[in-house]
Formats: sequence, structure tokens, C-alpha cells
Amino acid sequence: MQHFTLVDHPLVQHKLTKMREKTTSTAVFRQLLREISHLLAYEVTRDLPMTTTSIETPMEKMEAPVLKGKKMALISILRAGNGLLDGVLELIPSARVGFVGLYRDEETLQPVQYYFKVPKGMDERVVIAVDPMLATGNSSVAAIDLLKESGATDIRFMCLLAAPEGVARMKEAHPDVPIISAALDRQLSDIGYILPGLGDAGDRMFGTK
Ligand code: URA
Repeated sequence: MQHFTLVDHPLVQHKLTKMREKTTSTAVFRQLLREISHLLAYEVTRDLPMTTTSIETPMEKMEAPVLKGKKMALISILRAGNGLLDGVLELIPSARVGFVGLYRDEETLQPVQYYFKVPKGMDERVVIAVDPMLATGNSSVAAIDLLKESGATDIRFMCLLAAPEGVARMKEAHPDVPIISAALDRQLSDIGYILPGLGDAGDRMFGTK
């Protein structure tokens, strides 16, 4: 997988535009996020290993493709990651789930850890870390650092919007972690928000502002 994949599917782009609009309600924002997360999950799992199984259709026997059954872990980077998590879980219901709690110190923009709980056997799992906003990249890099410390080696990062600064920071720190995003925006604001962006993803999905 390449380091940065832009999911430019028309449905994704259309839904994302609706999410960006400031007049979009919390309920609609949440619903669109769920729908987009299905489409992003489709892309993030594109290279999962496959095998075949013998089945019988009403017509004849066949060797049919199935997933090889690699264990998976979905990791939500709190709190906004939870908005993407639900949709991905609908597509991969057997995945184990973990949480990384990081908040951003608004002065230094550096991540501060307050929670970390991941499934056992991270070294054997395909790990999908989800966070809608790849902004400075500081939290994402810190989250991936923690996942690697827990043993994970096959990690993918799924987001909705990425800033060029965040993509560069991730590429420098974790060149082995592919990023799958619905958009690559122009830049960061001076307080670390993505421009044009969609505002604070957590506030928009949980209605906290
Ligand atoms: N986090 C957000 O929620 N929005 C941004 O624009 C940047 C980080």
C-alpha cells in the first residue's frame, strides 16, 4: 500500500462536502460520518490476505474466495475516533477494539496520554487506527508509537481529513504506516486546525459546542 491514499470516490466526496458545511446538524454529520467510514473501511482493507474455500452453489461446486482470517484490531483515537469506529465495526464485526486517549495541549499542541487499552496479541493483528482529523500529526504519531510499543507491526491509519503537515510528520515518524483519507486539505491554521477543514470533529459529532 502506498504511504498516502486519497479516497476520491464521488460518494465519499459528496458526503464529505455536506459534513464540512457549518449548517449541517449533529445528527446528519454523525450519519454521514458513519456512511463514509464504510467506504473508507473498504479501501483500508483492500489488501487483506485471501484464501479459497470449497462451496456448492445451486448450480455446481466451486472454490470461492474468503478472507484468510487474519485477526484484526480497530483502535479508536479518542474521542473523535469513535465516530469512525462504529461504521468500521459494522463492516468488520469480529474485530477486537482498543482505545487510545490523547488530548491536545492547546498551548504546545503536544499530545498528552490519559487512556490506553488494546486487545491482546497485537503483534498478530492487522491494526486499523481511526481518527477523523490528521492535523499536526502529533497525536497520531504518539498513538502509533504506543501501538508499536504494544507489539503491533501491521498498522494502517484511517482518517477523514489530512493536512499536508500531518501527512509529512507521519511519513517521517512512521513511513511503514499507510494513511487512508477522504481529503488532503490545504494547511493548518495557526492554532492547529485544518483549513478549510470542518471545524472540531469531536464537537461536530457529539454536539458539544
Ligand atoms: N482536530 C479537529 O477536530 N479539527 C481540526 O481541524 C484539527 C484537529
